[in-house]
Amino acid sequence: MDNQQQPMPGLPPPGPDDSLVECALKVLNCPDPWRKADYTYATARMWREGMIKCVRPTPWQHLQAPDRPARSDEKAPRRGKGGTLASRQALLHSAVHIENWAVDLSWDVVARFGLRPEEYDMPREFFDDFVKVAEDECRHFTALAKRLEVRLPGVNSTLDLSLGQPERD
Ligand SMILES: [Fe+2]
Repeated sequence: MDNQQQPMPGLPPPGPDDSLVECALKVLNCPDPWRKADYTYATARMWREGMIKCVRPTPWQHLQAPDRPARSDEKAPRRGKGGTLASRQALLHSAVHIENWAVDLSWDVVARFGLRPEEYDMPREFFDDFVKVAEDECRHFTALAKRLEVRLPGVNSTLDLSLGQPERD
C-alpha cells in the first residue's frame, strides 16, 4: 500500500490475517480507485508469497459479496470517435473506468466462488488465476490512469472528471 495513504475508517487494508475472500471483499467495498489498486497489489503479493493461507475464513463467517462494488463515481464520460482532443481524452477516461471495473469483476469472482465451496468447490489454481487477472487489470488501470493524469493534470484521484459532451467528430 502507498505509504502516504492511511486506512479508511472502518475499512482496514488487507493483511496476512485475512483469507483471500476477505481481501477480495475489502477491495470490492473500497470506493477509492487508487486505494482499490493498492489493496489489489498488496493482496496479490501476499497471496503469491503464501502469506495469505486460506481462500475463505476459518472459522467460517457468513460473508457476502456486495451487489455492487463501492465506487467513487459511477459516471464515465460519453465517448466520441476520437477525432478531436476532447473526444480522445474522453476515450482514455472511459478506458480508465473500464479497467477499474475489470479489477472489481476479478475480485467479485474470487469472492462469489470462494464463499460457496459447497456449490463450486473450485481448486486453488482457480483462485491463483483470478488473483493474477485482478493484478493484470489493475496494471492496466494504473497505466491508463497515469496517462490520463499526464494528459489532464489533477484528475487522477477520484476519476470524477467531467469532460462534458465530446465534440462531434
Ligand atoms: Fe484490462
